[in-house]
Amino acid sequence: MMSVKQHDVSFKKDDDYETPKYIWEMILKLVPRDKILYDPFYCRGNTASVMKELGYECIHEDEDFFTNHHRYEYDILLSNPPFSIKKKIFDELKKIDKPFILIVPVSTITKKYFMDNYRNDDITIIIPPKRMQFMKNGKQLKECWFDTVFICYKMGLNEKIIYI
Ligand SMILES: C[S@@+](CC[C@H](N)C(=O)[O-])C[C@H]1O[C@@H](n2cnc3c(N)ncnc32)[C@H](O)[C@@H]1O
Repeated sequence: MMSVKQHDVSFKKDDDYETPKYIWEMILKLVPRDKILYDPFYCRGNTASVMKELGYECIHEDEDFFTNHHRYEYDILLSNPPFSIKKKIFDELKKIDKPFILIVPVSTITKKYFMDNYRNDDITIIIPPKRMQFMKNGKQLKECWFDTVFICYKMGLNEKIIYI
């Protein structure tokens, strides 16, 4: 009988992925130009560089979000956050109660912590035309194996789901 070799699968937490310009360009028409953006999750500062290049003001400091967010007067928190601490981030954002746009795995919307916090809220899910692919150390990757969406809170978009 042939033996079937099991694959060794090891999962390592790695949140250091950057968001390429094409991803933010997909939703530009939904982000008002006169709003002050805040991306608290740093990595190499890619999102802030891109948003500034696209004409936005974007606050971005390499520091801990949870202890520093209260220092900033911003209109919209916009980020690709560290997925490994999504629950903690969504809990904190509920307390802050300001508009946000976050890129997260699509599976987030069925998580209990998300439904408990946001089920009756002004939430819009924006679904991209194809799977988003991120960057690592400035290099564009192609192998993201899960789908991600934009979750928008209090952006006044009047629709639950937007396909772009
Ligand atoms: C997915 S990366 C995205 C970086 C950037 N927002 C972008 O879009 O290119 C998330 C980053 O958040 C950082 N991070 C993790 N916990 C954090 C915290 N408590 N405060 C601020 N940044 C944090 C991680 O180090 C990681 O580099």
